[in-house]
Amino acid sequence: SRSPQDTAKHAVAEKAAAMVEDKMVLGLGSGSTMRLTLLSIGRRIQAEGLSLKGVPTSEATAVLAREQGIELVELDARPELDLAFDGADEVVPGSFALTKGLGGALLREKLVAIAASWLVILVDDGKLVDQLGSRSPIPVEVVPFAHKTTARRLAKLGGEPVLRLASDGTPFRSDGGNLIYDLKMPPIGAPEGLAAAIKGITGVVEHGIFLGMAKDVIVGNADGTTRRLP
Ligand code: A5P
Repeated sequence: SRSPQDTAKHAVAEKAAAMVEDKMVLGLGSGSTMRLTLLSIGRRIQAEGLSLKGVPTSEATAVLAREQGIELVELDARPELDLAFDGADEVVPGSFALTKGLGGALLREKLVAIAASWLVILVDDGKLVDQLGSRSPIPVEVVPFAHKTTARRLAKLGGEPVLRLASDGTPFRSDGGNLIYDLKMPPIGAPEGLAAAIKGITGVVEHGIFLGMAKDVIVGNADGTTRRLP
């Protein structure tokens, strides 16, 4: 008995795995939807003997991809990826503006996203929004040094930055060893300006607003069907 959201995630994972072709070099995102996608790709590797390489965006994805039989490669050795998959926290239909990073892997995810000639975003339909910031904060990765000063500058952009904590109550650390502030914002009408303003703050490493990167968005519905956004 799967929840409607789980049914949607499984459906979109199957759809994504069906797009993979033998000998592709893949960008491999992070999060629960990607986890299901990797398992689906693994089943195709088993059944069809596909030979695939992939660049993982997190340690968790690296472990799972290797278990599925995907050969891990370095992005620097493979600057162009045939196809990249990733989840997202919010998607604006039409512009394909995204927020990502609730899983904490946003920096590597963005590096892989810009290297991919074809980035396919995989979401359940609950993540479609009219404006970014409607349902998720904007994750901002900052260097630990003087992070409270950096957070005060983030607050001046009109939101409320909240230091992300790990399950043990200590500050969450990204795979790169940095901290994450989740910036709660009122719905964002002009994400380009906010993205540039966040990136312009010294101490900020990267943020989870992804603009002009997704080429395709596949949406999973609660009834197990999928659709591709126009
Ligand atoms: C990881 O840092 C994120 O960008 C994920 O891609 C995003 O949070 C979606 O994750 P789920 O597939 O678990 O919802």
